[in-house]
Amino acid sequence: MILVTGGAGFIGSHFVLDWFEQKSEPIVNLDALTYAGNPANLAPLQGNSNHALIKGDIGDSALVESLLQTHKPRAIVNFAAESHVDRSIHGPGDFIQTNIVGTFRLLESVRAYWGALPDADKNAFRFLHISTDEVYGSLAPTDAPFSETHRYEPNSPYSASKAASDHLVRAYHHTYGLPVLTTNCSNNYGPLHFPEKLIPLCIHNALTGKPLPIYGDGQQVRDWLYVRDHCSAIRRVLEAGKVGEVYNVGGWNEKPNLDVVRTLCRVLDELSPRSDNKSYTEQITYVKDRPGHDRRYAIDASKIERELGWRPAETFESGIRKTVRWYLDNAAWVESVTSGAYKNWTAKQYA
Ligand code: NAD
Ligand code: TYD
Repeated sequence: MILVTGGAGFIGSHFVLDWFEQKSEPIVNLDALTYAGNPANLAPLQGNSNHALIKGDIGDSALVESLLQTHKPRAIVNFAAESHVDRSIHGPGDFIQTNIVGTFRLLESVRAYWGALPDADKNAFRFLHISTDEVYGSLAPTDAPFSETHRYEPNSPYSASKAASDHLVRAYHHTYGLPVLTTNCSNNYGPLHFPEKLIPLCIHNALTGKPLPIYGDGQQVRDWLYVRDHCSAIRRVLEAGKVGEVYNVGGWNEKPNLDVVRTLCRVLDELSPRSDNKSYTEQITYVKDRPGHDRRYAIDASKIERELGWRPAETFESGIRKTVRWYLDNAAWVESVTSGAYKNWTAKQYA
């Protein structure tokens, strides 16, 4: 079996759902169920005895050690993190705690467990750490996209905390021999995405008649990766990645934010037109820029293609249509995650 952390969040829950669409190997899913963790994401697995969701912190060494001893996983996939840049600007403390201290404690628990395994299990064991392209910092318009050897230049408390966790993972391989793998991916999008990030926020705001907030001039560039493509990449790295290596995962979809939001509006105009028949683009509103806003991220995903034969299946157009369709069909999910504390967040962030 494998131990997944943060598997009730956006990417982690897709990974778990996708896993059981491919195979039956059991998963123990350890998730602190912060505001971003949602057991409802895993509803299709109700009654599946191969999946167990455990509420708990990756930094709770006693809990993690007991899970490791009880279930004896052959691999760990570590998604657990605080993940939203804007929240890290308002309050970096939780990011330091989970992304740095939590990852450190998890690595310590795993090192003790792995060290006591018989040789064959020890060799086959993998610790796969999920990270981000944001650790590489910001690119100029004509710079080559990030390769795995690009230097680390994190600019936000979020990316700095992820960079620190990547360094710890690397050090546990070089110092203790822990068989680690790291993936650094670009911006994911798709169903089940919490509506604090650009794409789900804009879909939600469009449908509820609110402004679509564009930070600064909207010309910041991100690479967009459909979440299920990311899941297939992680499965591939887990099965065939070379121990100690880093793999960049991207969608080959570099786009300025304004283009992303305009595309979203076009798809919404088609699938769920406004009652006044005007375009949702009317709701686009320029707001104050994010402090320290990185101008451009771009991923060179050729290593994972060359060495592991992985390429994304979705284009941005196909992925965004699936995404918009899902949000239109799942209003109850959106309603459940946008009541209560979510309102406090949007009031603070978009005041
Ligand atoms: P998310 O915020 O949706 O989910 C994070 C999950 O981790 C939640 O379920 C949360 O409850 C859980 N969690 C938080 N702190 C925890 C702790 N201390 N112990 C156990 N569980 C805890 O994030 P996501 O978008 O699914 O991202 C998953 C991973 O992928 C993160 O490591 C993130 O840095 C990385 N990543 C995300 C993106 C993206 O576009 N979403 C891009 C690059 C990398
Ligand atoms: P986001 O989804 O927060 O991801 P990240 O900061 O990790 O890239 O933001 C994606 C881009 O969209 C980023 O350049 C910031 C911008 N953005 C807006 O313009 N308005 C918004 O309301 C949000 C949340 C993001």
